Amino acid sequence: FVHQLADDEVHPDELLASPLVPSASPGLPLPANLYGAQRPNSKGADPTHRDERASFEAALASARPQPIALANVADIAPTMARLQHGQHPWTRTPLSARANTLRRAADMLEARLPEFCGLLVREAHKTLGDAIAEVREAVDFCRYYAEQAEERLAPQSLPGPTGESNELSLHGRGVFVCISPWNFPLAIFTGQVVAALVAGNCVAAKPAEQTPAVAQRMVALLHDAGVPRDTLALLHGPGETIGAGLVADERTAGVCFTGSTAVAKAINRALAAKDGPIVPLIAETGGINAMVVDSTALPEQVIDAVVQSAFRSAGQRCSALRLLCVHESVADPVIEMLRGAMAELTLGDPARLETDVGPVIDDEAFETLQRHIARLRREAMLIGETPLHSTLPRLVAPIAFELPRIADVKQEIFGPVLHVVRWRGAPEAVIAEVNALGYGLTLGLQTRIDGRAHQLADAAHIGNVYVNRNMIGAVVGVQPFGGEGLSGTGPKAGGPHYLYRFCAERTLTINT
Ligand code: NAD
Ligand code: ALA
Repeated sequence: FVHQLADDEVHPDELLASPLVPSASPGLPLPANLYGAQRPNSKGADPTHRDERASFEAALASARPQPIALANVADIAPTMARLQHGQHPWTRTPLSARANTLRRAADMLEARLPEFCGLLVREAHKTLGDAIAEVREAVDFCRYYAEQAEERLAPQSLPGPTGESNELSLHGRGVFVCISPWNFPLAIFTGQVVAALVAGNCVAAKPAEQTPAVAQRMVALLHDAGVPRDTLALLHGPGETIGAGLVADERTAGVCFTGSTAVAKAINRALAAKDGPIVPLIAETGGINAMVVDSTALPEQVIDAVVQSAFRSAGQRCSALRLLCVHESVADPVIEMLRGAMAELTLGDPARLETDVGPVIDDEAFETLQRHIARLRREAMLIGETPLHSTLPRLVAPIAFELPRIADVKQEIFGPVLHVVRWRGAPEAVIAEVNALGYGLTLGLQTRIDGRAHQLADAAHIGNVYVNRNMIGAVVGVQPFGGEGLSGTGPKAGGPHYLYRFCAERTLTINT
C-alpha cells in the first residue's frame, strides 16, 4: 500500500517550492504523505499531481454551498411513508445489485474528488489535506461495505442433526434513520447511509445543520448511482425537531447516530419511551481520549504523535487527543519540545496546503472554546500556544495546559486544547484513572518496554488503542473504529461486524 509517485507526479518536496504552496510547514505532514499511503482502496485525484492541480484550484474557487431547503416537521410522516413503501422493492433487489450501486457511487465520488474537497473546505472549513482524506474515506466506506455485504449477508444453509433443511438469512429492517455530525460531513454521513442501504434498508438521512450542502450533493450522487428515490430521503433541519421527529416516527425501524454522548442518550430515552417494536440504536459518540507516555518513550515520536492527534483538524475529531499523561521523569523535556512544536504550526486559510490548522466550525464552537480556554488560563498552568498571525474568523490557536489530576478533565472539549498531566508510579493506575472517566474511544500508548503496551491495552476499556504513533485517522477495513462506555454502543464502523446490526436475522426450517 505504499504510495508510489507516478512519472508525472510532483514530489511533495518539489511542490513546496511551487507558487501554490509558498512555504513549507514544519508542523503537520502534507496530505499525500499521510493518506496516499494509507488508502488501499482509493486512487483518486491528488493536488500534488500536475494535471490535478488546476482542477483543485478551480473546485476551491467555485465551491459555494448553495441555499438548502429545510424540512418541516410536517414533512416527516409523508417521507417515512414513502420510504416504507420503497422498502419492499429495495430489499428484494439482489444483494449483488445493491453492492454494485455502492461501487458505482464510489467510482463517481472518486472522479469528483476535487469538487467534493472544494465543498468540504468551504462549508466545513476542512484543510485541503483533511478534505482529501475525507473524500477517500467515503470512497472506502462504499467499496468496503459493498464487499462486506456480498461476503457476509448472503443466506447460509446450516447443516445439522435434525434431518430438516435450515437456512439463516439477513434482511433489511425497514426504514433506518441516519443522523450524522458536522465534523465528518461526508465520510460519516456516507458510511452510515450506504451501510444501511446495502443491508437492504431504506434510509431517512438527517445531516448536521452546519454542513447540509455536502450531504445534499452526496445524496444526489447516490441517486445518480442508482439508489432509487423512494429508498433514500434527505431531511435538513434542527436535531431537536427534525432529528427527534424522525426518531419518534412509528415507522422508524432502526437509528444510526454519530454525535455527542448527550444527544445519543436523549435518542436512547426517546426510543425506549416509544410504543411499538423495540428499535435498535447504533450510537457512536465522544471521548476524553488520553495518551500515556512512559519513561522509555521516544520524545520525537511522542511530539509528532501529540501534535497530529491533538491539533490536526483543529482538534475537531472524536478520536483526537485531549489528555496527555506523561511520566514525571520525562515530563519536562517532553513539555519543552511540545511548546516548540506548537510554536511552529501554521494557522490560517484551510484552502492553502501549508495550513496545519484552519477555523473551527462555527461561532458557537468558537465561543465555547474561548470560554474553556479563559477558565484554564485562570485555573491551570499554560504550557504553550501557537501564535495567531491571521485575522480569519473562528481561528482557535492550539493551546496546552498542565493540570494536577486526570480527573480534572471532566468533559470532551471539541477543539485544539490539550490537557497535560504528570504521573508517577504504575502505568496500570493511570489506565484505571482513564477508565474511570467513563469514555472509551481512543487511547495512545508510548512505550518501548516489551509487553507493556499489550498489558495496558488489555486493561483499558477503550475501542481503539494506538501504540507509538498518532491516534487519529482509522483506516476503513483495516482499523475498525468505535468506542465503548460513554463513547458508543458499537459495532465498529469500517469493520467486519458493522453491517449485521442493520439487519434482521431469520431462520427458515423446512421438514423435508
Ligand atoms: P451533536 O450531537 O450536537 O449532533 C449530531 C447530530 O444529531 C446532528 O445532526 C444534530 O442535528 C442531531 N441532533 C441533535 N439533537 C438531536 C435530537 N434531540 N434528536 C435527534 N437528533 C439530534 O454532535 P455534533 O456537534 O454534530 O458532533 C460532534 C460530536 O460528535 C462530538 O461529541 C464528537 O466526539 C462526536 N463524534 C463521534 C464520532 C465517533 O465515531 N464516535 C465521530 C464523529 C463525531
Ligand atoms: N475515524 C476518525 C478517526 O479515526 C474519526 O480519526
